[in-house]
Amino acid sequence: MSYQSSLLAPYSERRQRPAKGRSGQSLAHDSAHKHVSGEAVYVDDMPELARTLHVAVGKSSITCGQITQLDLTAVRSAEGVIDVITLDDVPGEKDIGPVFKGDPLLADGRIEFHGQPIFAVAAESFEQAKRAVALAKVDYQTDTPILTIAAALQQNAFVRPAHVMQKGDVEAALQQAPKMLTGELYNKGQEHFYLEGQVSYVVPTEDGGMKVYTSSQHPTEVQKLVAEVLDVPINYVQTEVRRMGGGFGGKETQAAQWACLAAVFAKRLKRPIKMRLDRQDDMQLTGKRHDFYGRYRVGFDAQGKLCAADIELAGKCGYSPDLSDAIVDRAMFHIDNAYHYPAMRVLGQRCKTNTVSNTAFRGFGGPQGMLIGEGILDDVARAVGRDPLDVRLENLYQLGDSTHYGQEIEDFPMAELMTNLASQCEYYSRRRAIADFNQQHRFKKRGLALTPVKFGISFTIQFLNQAGALVHIYTDGSIHLNHGGTEMGQGLFTKVAQVVANEFDVDIDTIQVSATATDKVPNTSPTAASSGTDLNAKAAQNACLTIKSRLLDFAQQHYGVSREALRFCNNHLVVSAEQETWVTFADFIQLAYQNRVSLSSTGYYSTPKIHYNRDQANGRPFFYYALGASCSEVEVDTLTGEYKVLRTDILHDVGRSLNPAIDIGQIEGGFVQGMGWLTSEELSWDEQGRLASNAAANYKIPTSIDVPAMSVTLWDKANSEETIYRSKAVGEPPLMHGISVWCALRDAAASVANYRVNPPLNTPATPEQVLNAVQYCQEHGA
Ligand code: MTE
Ligand code: MOS
Repeated sequence: MSYQSSLLAPYSERRQRPAKGRSGQSLAHDSAHKHVSGEAVYVDDMPELARTLHVAVGKSSITCGQITQLDLTAVRSAEGVIDVITLDDVPGEKDIGPVFKGDPLLADGRIEFHGQPIFAVAAESFEQAKRAVALAKVDYQTDTPILTIAAALQQNAFVRPAHVMQKGDVEAALQQAPKMLTGELYNKGQEHFYLEGQVSYVVPTEDGGMKVYTSSQHPTEVQKLVAEVLDVPINYVQTEVRRMGGGFGGKETQAAQWACLAAVFAKRLKRPIKMRLDRQDDMQLTGKRHDFYGRYRVGFDAQGKLCAADIELAGKCGYSPDLSDAIVDRAMFHIDNAYHYPAMRVLGQRCKTNTVSNTAFRGFGGPQGMLIGEGILDDVARAVGRDPLDVRLENLYQLGDSTHYGQEIEDFPMAELMTNLASQCEYYSRRRAIADFNQQHRFKKRGLALTPVKFGISFTIQFLNQAGALVHIYTDGSIHLNHGGTEMGQGLFTKVAQVVANEFDVDIDTIQVSATATDKVPNTSPTAASSGTDLNAKAAQNACLTIKSRLLDFAQQHYGVSREALRFCNNHLVVSAEQETWVTFADFIQLAYQNRVSLSSTGYYSTPKIHYNRDQANGRPFFYYALGASCSEVEVDTLTGEYKVLRTDILHDVGRSLNPAIDIGQIEGGFVQGMGWLTSEELSWDEQGRLASNAAANYKIPTSIDVPAMSVTLWDKANSEETIYRSKAVGEPPLMHGISVWCALRDAAASVANYRVNPPLNTPATPEQVLNAVQYCQEHGA
């Protein structure tokens, strides 16, 4: 961490003011200025060691089938090539599936998706490796690929068994409901488009060991898989991650393959090996957000009060399970969003397609489920002719209600939050202004929507909800902090350092956070599920408390006072006896050291209260829910379908914020990324199953021009659960505020039919889709 250190500032000055950067303050990201100046070191920026080689993979030119012949003679003799490997050359485990098997490190003879890596080349330069892989002669026997969810459902092609969550007698409740409607929605996936692509640098150490520098959200899994692939114990491998240039879920499991390939070469050649994917390979060879298809029947009364829903979700998983079981589960967990359905059944299908294996992406299936759930609420509101916000408010969970997976709703100020936002952004008067505007304009139509987000916080795989940390204090009072979480731009390192600063009440610039390393904190969980701060800050606090209690025991004895007479304040230990004595933190630490007090400790945390029985689909999978709401206004040109998002207001619950500036940044970024998913970002494959959207030129992420006028406010109330200083996780939930944009687009389209028709609007809602929705309403209205 590179804050200007105030360690050398005089204590006389540091005593007069509160410690800098304590928790709750809007501190800049610890690397912000380095991100901007280019000084932040990413894996590809590290100086290369002598004899470093570079790797590229040879890719399948078919989508599905069998390799009948593989001739690599020309590849081996190409300029600069040092070594070529296929799956047979992998010394240990050949399958790197993270939870379930199914991901061979290189193709095992069978081709499951277009571009699947078949062999790998190590050469003196990256360019030579890339040129060499093109020289392979491969013969195939081709099979007909399964490319869509529809085809997978029809052919019963699944990567994992179906799963059901159910509450109440759904059929009976649907029959008894005064009204019923059906609908369907297809939402397409999303490319992560992290700025730094997948990369690993593997350096062989003595005795067959490996040091792995990688851009991964899950250093421990990379360590374990590299060890398995090399057939060595886990303690032969060390993984280090200083930072990622974005992960967004795309580096939770799918950073491992490149590290493992590099490690196989490093072991064979005893040379340092770098493997970095160029952008097109990264887009083609790594998984994305899952497409989802949802189909529903929903029963309700004349006021729009929900009675029951029967919903089928199908996720496009690609060729292997990867994390899809948990991702489809999370879609199912979030289909209700914030609303109480007296009876509900959700079926979740995990479709196998001959496409790259889809993976984690901010929200982890939650956004896909929630989108369908919010579509239902709009459909119901239009069916009963009421303002969607009123129908939403009347269907919110009440305290004591249970979700369709048995979790009781305990703390849920959503109605208050939504009405607060509605008055802050003047929802109802803008609703009337929009009606006037739409009346006055023949071709331009505006739409408005205010939608909630309720997102469950915890890994639904229970054992992952744990973390470790390591804190050292050196004899000058400076502190070294390490924990199992990884930094991907989200500000985790800054927040955890603030917690440590808070615990000792010292200036944050006296704390160094170093790279995440598996030999410092072992057996870590991925930094994912938004739980990085919840878990690692608690673990770091636990380490601080251990050291503090040793220090205070010593001080009690040394100064002959009671525990109550001691406190850490403004970079000092304050001893209150007859007279108050201020001992500088550095002097006190030096004293403790000389009196043989241990100044280093590990820390540990595991999330309490959570339990879930998946066989019965019942329990409390989430420690708590993060809440929020957003309101978006759009203007659509009904002649072309082109549109602009005019304004978005967000009120979001991060509990007691540890760092408002970083939290607001996460909310703004999450919203824009969610808006991109639902509007302009379109993945496309051709009929042969080749990825067509494989570069920045043909895959459109939002730019600054697309960002609406935005206002983000924090809902500054303590978490009712005992999280770190009563804060709440922030990373993923704001992405789902993008849903208000999609709802507003449907609202604008529906305006042409006096809000009596439910516009079909699959996502991304590109201008073409919006134009179709408008025309559908024009044809089906009145
Ligand atoms: N913010 C930035 N800048 N870069 C990222 O890669 N990933 C998101 C979110 N915010 C991401 C981000 C995802 S998918 C998750 S799960 C969380 O950050 C992970 O970090 P946390 O648990 O520390 O919030
Ligand atoms: Mo985030 S999708 O849980 O890495």
